[in-house]
Amino acid sequence: MIGPRILPANNESIQEAAADLERGSLVVFPTETVYGLGGGTLDESSLASIYRLKGRQSDNPLIAHVLDIEGARSLTTGWDDRCTLLAEAWWPGPLTLVLGRSGVVPDLASGGRPTLAVRSPQHPVARALLEAYGKPISAPSANRSGEVSPTCAQHVLDDYSADPAADGMIILDGDRCHVGIESTVLDMTVDPPRILRPGALTAEVLQNLIGSVEYTELHHTSASPGTMESHYSPQTNCLLVDVEEMRHRLSNMTERCVVLVSNPDHHEMVQPPHTLLAMPSDPDGYAQDLYDALRKADSEQADLILIESNGEEDPNWIAIRDRLMRAASDRPV
Ligand code: TXA
Ligand code: MG
Repeated sequence: MIGPRILPANNESIQEAAADLERGSLVVFPTETVYGLGGGTLDESSLASIYRLKGRQSDNPLIAHVLDIEGARSLTTGWDDRCTLLAEAWWPGPLTLVLGRSGVVPDLASGGRPTLAVRSPQHPVARALLEAYGKPISAPSANRSGEVSPTCAQHVLDDYSADPAADGMIILDGDRCHVGIESTVLDMTVDPPRILRPGALTAEVLQNLIGSVEYTELHHTSASPGTMESHYSPQTNCLLVDVEEMRHRLSNMTERCVVLVSNPDHHEMVQPPHTLLAMPSDPDGYAQDLYDALRKADSEQADLILIESNGEEDPNWIAIRDRLMRAASDRPV
């Protein structure tokens, strides 16, 4: 077994990757948010391979990546002036728009839905790949379904190195993703438009451009964790806690905890046998490090991952909190 191949992204490897896409093989590429597992949007057998390799349910739709507004319009219906405003302000960038799906796009590109999510990525390697291939590329985050998203090439290799189905698959290495969490997904088929997934761009930023935008945040206290979709989940039990609960858990020496702490004043609370993972205290830095930290925490094989909650009232923390709540949602301790 040769496993997936990490190639430094350059002209030659990007051409090779484009040729692989043309043949119907999947290619992993960096975007500014997370790494994507790409296949041709107009190529049904590639789309089927994405679902198979990722272990994704066939009704969970994919995002089609395009170079520009024209590329997005050719795949969708219902593009209006608000879409143009949003795209002119934020494309290329971490904003995904959900529109009607045009008849040229296979059902499988959006899990059978009549809509299609489109986004124009900013990462130069993603753009070079789109140019070399010359057609849209559908790509979910390159993690296994339900697990933690990858923000560097090595994360993807870790996830697929033992999978014969990923033999020979190119992983274009474009360094760490500078945003670090996924794009904001905005449904433009409803009025007012609705945020389906919070991301790097906040509701306020979108509202300033197009007026009212709807968003319902997950409830903060995970009173009913079972109702949340488990996602971004490490294998180790994971709890999102305030500082009091953190202190209480850490005083229990029978469990070994790995603790993600963003407030530097609280670092010293974490003493052996527990392990500290110091996180940035600003939301941009935190987002950038988040998935790497969750993967590191998981690899410690501790009894429990504790995550200090943060940014209660600040809109810039909403997307991070969403990911943390999902990471912590499904495995009650
Ligand atoms: O930043 C990103 O968006 C990354 C990079 C690779 O572009 N991609 C990504 O894809 O996060 P994925 O498949 O892991 O997440 C896409 C999200 C899912 O929650 C999916 O259900 C939603 O977008 N989505 C996609 N198409 C949709 C549609 N037609 N209607 C509603 N939701 C959709
Ligand atoms: Mg994903």
